[in-house]
Amino acid sequence: MKGIILAGGTGSRLHPLTMAMSKQLLPVYDKPMIYYPLSTLMLGGVREILVISTPTHLPLFRQVLGDGSELGLDLRYAEQPQPAGIADAFRIGARFLGADPVTLILGDNIFYGQGLSELLQTSMRDLIGCTLFSHTVRDPQRYGVAEFDAEGRLVDIEEKPARPKSSEAITGLYLYTNDVVEIARGLAPSARGELEITDVNRVYISEGRARLRSFGRGFAWLDAGTHDGLLNAAQFVQVLEHRQGVRIACLEEIALRMGFIDADSCYALGRKQQNSGYGQYVMTAAQAG
Ligand code: DAU
Repeated sequence: MKGIILAGGTGSRLHPLTMAMSKQLLPVYDKPMIYYPLSTLMLGGVREILVISTPTHLPLFRQVLGDGSELGLDLRYAEQPQPAGIADAFRIGARFLGADPVTLILGDNIFYGQGLSELLQTSMRDLIGCTLFSHTVRDPQRYGVAEFDAEGRLVDIEEKPARPKSSEAITGLYLYTNDVVEIARGLAPSARGELEITDVNRVYISEGRARLRSFGRGFAWLDAGTHDGLLNAAQFVQVLEHRQGVRIACLEEIALRMGFIDADSCYALGRKQQNSGYGQYVMTAAQAG
């Protein structure tokens, strides 16, 4: 299984914050936003990951994350010159993917909840086409929305419907078999000129090869793509971290727990940042683990 983090786009909903800075590098409390989706992929056991962003911002991601080797990862980078749609990620990533299945995650989607690692790994083993993850939301018209038949089976997804047929939003975390590359190549751009991920998912639904897993109520899915969303996400992370004394999406700790690196390497990574509370936490995690 390979991974793609899509971290491009114009960030226009966050202007003027994103006039010069990539949205996915803005702080979510104590770390850059991209740490969160990257940590989700790592918890799924994914180690070969392509980061896609704009030609302007891509060097910044490289500066923050490097080649990933210190975390036991293999990180690659690719440019998306224009925001041509989420499904454009598979055209850009075709060579990187080779014949492998892929987990795509949007760079502004934050997932938190017990059992995430297990859920992802099980879903990867069971993959028959695409596996999507949904979450109940108050404002489904802002998202891709699932439609179910009387038996509760997924029959369609509508992108930002004016009259949503359910309150189950499709999250920005998607698992696909390798034929997603061919499906993306065969797509026509939508009315807004983009290759829509919902159109990809509809192909799998029509072929009876789509699974939908719903994140339960104990699970948090945060979308940091608006000013309020960004602040809410930061506050959520702050409250949890202060209360529990553990850090969410600490890449070094996750790499250690997943067995990607050993305790000595983890400690050394913490030492490099020992002036920050984050670095000190990494050193403590290495000593404990
Ligand atoms: O967050 C989940 C939602 O993400 C889903 O429910 C929707 O079905 C899906 O279409 C998407 O909706 P958004 O309105 O969030 O899509 P947006 O166009 O804002 O793109 C999502 C992220 O992907 C955004 O942070 C920037 C990045 N992106 C987007 C496009 C279109 C790119 O990097 N390149 C692109 O070409």
